[in-house]
Amino acid sequence: MHRKYKIIAATALLASLSFGAYAQSAAERAIQYRQGVMRAQGWHLGNMAAQVRGDKPYNKDDFARSATFLSQLLQMPWDGYGPGTEAGAPTKAKADIWLDTGKFKSAGDDAGKAAAALAQAAASGNMDQIKVAFGATAKTCKTCHDDFKSK
Ligand code: HEC
Repeated sequence: MHRKYKIIAATALLASLSFGAYAQSAAERAIQYRQGVMRAQGWHLGNMAAQVRGDKPYNKDDFARSATFLSQLLQMPWDGYGPGTEAGAPTKAKADIWLDTGKFKSAGDDAGKAAAALAQAAASGNMDQIKVAFGATAKTCKTCHDDFKSK
């Protein structure tokens, strides 16, 4: 392709991409954002669960990487729960998130702390410590889901 046409094609592609983003409502983007972060959390929790259960051979570096990622991911979803994001796309977020935001935030803090402790345990490579910290972290996911996520 001639260079000039390549540039025109690239510009058209960029324009259509950014139009696509604007055509989506802000609420829809926020909902998809928080769900995407949650899915990534599920990925890394699952990778660690498989190693804790022995379904996958334990690898210290791989496990520690997932623990670090999870601890960072747990700081991210809350941007996606701003005012007006109760609806606008399919969501399992319960209205209580916006009615009892303090409780929701504190459930998020508990999860963040548990995952930070898990990342520390993972760096030690001590499986007894890891198992305890992993169980505590998984429990914080469940606690928040029981209260704030519909089935
Ligand atoms: C403070 C509350 C809270 C914590 C802590 C939390 N979640 Fe969630 N999670 C939610 C809510 C609310 C939803 C529903 C979001 C929606 O549908 O808009 C959700 C949805 C999900 C989903 C489904 C995403 C999708 O739409 O496909 C997965 C997977 C998930 N969480 C994994 C986890 C894991 C793993 C952890 C723990 C490491 C965790 N969550 C911790 C509140 C929480």
